[in-house]
Amino acid sequence: MDHFSLNSGVLHAEDVPLPQIAEEVGTPVYVYSRATLERHARVFTEGLAEVPDKLIAFAVKSNPNLAVLKVLQKAGFGADVVSGGELRRALAAGMAPAKIVFSGVGKTRAELMLGLDEGIGQFNIESREEGRELAELAAARGELAPACLRINPDVDAKTHEKISTGKAENKFGIPLVHAREVFAELVQLDGLHLRGIAVHIGSQLGDLEPLETAFGKVGKLVADLREAGHLITHVDLGGGLGVPYKAGEEFPSPADYGAMVARVTRDWRVHLTFEPGRVIAGNAGILLTRVIRVKRGGNGPPFVIVDAAMNDLARPALYGAWHDFDAVEPSGEHMTANIVGPICETGDTFARDRKCDALQSGDLAVFRTAGAYGATMASSYNSRGFVAEVLVDGDQFAVVADRIDAGAIMDAERVPEWLA
Ligand code: LLP
Repeated sequence: MDHFSLNSGVLHAEDVPLPQIAEEVGTPVYVYSRATLERHARVFTEGLAEVPDKLIAFAVKSNPNLAVLKVLQKAGFGADVVSGGELRRALAAGMAPAKIVFSGVGKTRAELMLGLDEGIGQFNIESREEGRELAELAAARGELAPACLRINPDVDAKTHEKISTGKAENKFGIPLVHAREVFAELVQLDGLHLRGIAVHIGSQLGDLEPLETAFGKVGKLVADLREAGHLITHVDLGGGLGVPYKAGEEFPSPADYGAMVARVTRDWRVHLTFEPGRVIAGNAGILLTRVIRVKRGGNGPPFVIVDAAMNDLARPALYGAWHDFDAVEPSGEHMTANIVGPICETGDTFARDRKCDALQSGDLAVFRTAGAYGATMASSYNSRGFVAEVLVDGDQFAVVADRIDAGAIMDAERVPEWLA
């Protein structure tokens, strides 16, 4: 459930009519709803009510905006980060270092050092080599780095291949068959407090069964490690729960997910970490755009050319992803159209042959479910700059990221003297 709905024929974000935001901030613009973020945080937390000892660490990659992070920090969340930049954002939003988990397959030495400097709560180690390096860095400081070993359970998450992370051929984690041996080596190193296992098999999962299979493998590994004499106190179950992108689509709810987790982990006696991203932020944001013009098609439907493009919202071009597309002031008439952006490649297509509200030049429209993996994946391709972001709270709103225009980006470039 979200807080973007029609009120007197005009689409609102909570109590703010979207035309007002378009008027004051311009388009395209991402609009986030605080009430929706808070609702999702609450529902996810309540879904895990039966798991007493836990940390919910928001996957910052899904929406790293500082104001969004602040809302989630206030809801009691920590952060799952995958770079020094994300770590700095989590801290800037007031997340306690102890509630920060550092994931990622390619943490640099400098990033590991930053994590140690800030005293973060957990490093998820993805290889023997990374474990040795972290141990060496921490030991040199006379410290113990709290860590889990991320395993690759070789489970097909049944999602898009580009966002599947738990199959043997994927780059992530340590193959399950090597996990015992790598754990036994790393646990002995000075500088490392290796205390558990982490797993994450993919994103936008519509089926709990692959997650349950992966968690089952983790449970078995935990039992084996304990039998070998290791102390296991922590398990990180990653993120991945999917959300509906099409009106009417059904997905497992956080309550279904929580019930499964409680059942599978009942006897584990560990502290559990969760890293949800999309399920918290996805439906809490829309991308507001204006129709530039409608162009007649050659042998197909007309092209509705909007002022947002693949550089602002990459998911359709990158994954063939569907985003519902609705008029802000629907007339009740409908059309079938190709929804495209202005960028000079055919891949800049949001939807083909889409039945949607009838639109004409100057009309406002929204791409829904753009709160996760939206603004964060933007680029400045075609020198279009970066769009602004707005957070709505009841009847008020604030610009929480300025629009960065092509000029500001150009200011960071220079022509060397010897070329001038
Ligand atoms: N934890 C780890 C280690 C991850 O790699 C990810 C996402 C998450 C947590 C959060 O997963 P979520 O709960 O959001 O599914 N750009 C793609 C999604 C990439 C996901 C990468 N990893 C998209 O737009 O669909």
